[in-house]
Amino acid sequence: MFIGAGAEDFAAAQGLEPVAADFFSTPERREQLERALNSDEMLLDHDGAANSHGEDPLDPDRKFGTVGAVALDVHGNLAAATSTGGMTNKQVGRVGDSPLAGAGCYANNATVAVSCTGTGEVFIRTLAAYDVSAQMEYGGRSLQQATASVIHDKVQELGGSGGLIAVDAHGNVALPFNSEGMYRGFARVEGDIEVAIYRDS
Ligand code: GLY
Repeated sequence: MFIGAGAEDFAAAQGLEPVAADFFSTPERREQLERALNSDEMLLDHDGAANSHGEDPLDPDRKFGTVGAVALDVHGNLAAATSTGGMTNKQVGRVGDSPLAGAGCYANNATVAVSCTGTGEVFIRTLAAYDVSAQMEYGGRSLQQATASVIHDKVQELGGSGGLIAVDAHGNVALPFNSEGMYRGFARVEGDIEVAIYRDS
């Protein structure tokens, strides 16, 4: 795990092209940040609870957050990836769950691949992604049971909001969340493709 100058040096040693920080800034995200700064709020993605923008049950200011992916390949390899964009106007120096293996992201060929989105502090305290794997490995739970326990019991009990996407070693998929919605989808080689945003979609 690399951060700061060490990460920059490592990237350079791998031949990656450096870019200025504003390369990653877009007008939409800049305006979103300005609104958050003006209202002195820290905005969690995928949460409609404080929607003040009209019809959309998901607040448009909260839907550009964490991006996660999980995959099972034909050889039985499980992989997970999680971005770090989950909160807007967060405190300088704060590290969320996304880059922390076991908290926002975890994969183990014996059990499951998991990527989380939501209130990072709670996903860190619960080691949410790893707990799904541990419940399956040590508790004999199914993917559905383990993911529901983590999101609807453990994360919920600590006041956390969010969800996760997961695929297990047998190709079962779970996408539970306790927030208003969660942008999600999955596809199988043989053709199943599903996308959804809200609870009942
Ligand atoms: N889940 C993203 C964050 O807390 O930063």
